[in-house]
Amino acid sequence: MLYSYMIIEQFKDAFIDEVMSDEWQEEILPLKQMMAYYRCAIMEVETKFRVLNEELSLCYDRNPIESIHSRLKSNASITKKLKLKGYPINVETMEKYLYDIAGLRVVCSFKQDIYHLAQCLLQQDDIRLVKKKDYIQNPKANGYHSLHLIIEVPIFLENEKKWVKVEVQFRTLAMDFWASLEHKLRYKKVIDDDKESYIAYQLLECAQMCNDLDDKMSSIKEYLE
Ligand code: GTP
Ligand code: MG
Repeated sequence: MLYSYMIIEQFKDAFIDEVMSDEWQEEILPLKQMMAYYRCAIMEVETKFRVLNEELSLCYDRNPIESIHSRLKSNASITKKLKLKGYPINVETMEKYLYDIAGLRVVCSFKQDIYHLAQCLLQQDDIRLVKKKDYIQNPKANGYHSLHLIIEVPIFLENEKKWVKVEVQFRTLAMDFWASLEHKLRYKKVIDDDKESYIAYQLLECAQMCNDLDDKMSSIKEYLE
């Protein structure tokens, strides 16, 4: 079943509290406005995937999308990332240099669904591709697999059309399983040097197993078709 985590209201409240930090004092209104645009962009892109899922399920008699998760980057993370990259803290730099303020994760059944959905999305005439990172064809050294697209989608406002960036991560269930657990195992943990290479090797092996599982499931699907 297709489901989504659109906890916009909670994000909004957390955001308004956080926004009181000194760095943004001069720009609270433009910042609130820009965050609203990112929320709208998430809604637009999520709807596009829901529509594609409906249409493709009619054509192929199965849903290519297992789940969609969306998230808006917190004000604290935005501030931290801008500082880390050495940019001034303001709405202009945030819009220009941060590509992952609006994020969507589309979890698919099979690897082929990822490429098909990405292609269907990119051929829509109101979608602009900014950047593509294919960590499925070229996995990260640690074993991370996913297809990342940075796209721009237009938001139609009262008197203007505004292009807003959204990061879309496509994963299979197996890729998502690996990435979620890897994140959980590593997040905010200091791992001793002697354990590090052992853990890295084990995780890489797990990534290989997930990839083999994806390929095996795909071959069963092809056999049945
Ligand atoms: P950042 O957003 O600063 O990480 O930018 P980047 O340009 O290095 O982006 P990249 O496309 O490589 O990764 C962005 C996002 O992908 C991260 O925020 C994670 O959600 C996910 N990701 C990337 N690498 C890993 C990884 O090794 N493990 C897990 N669990 N997630 C990853
Ligand atoms: Mg990121």
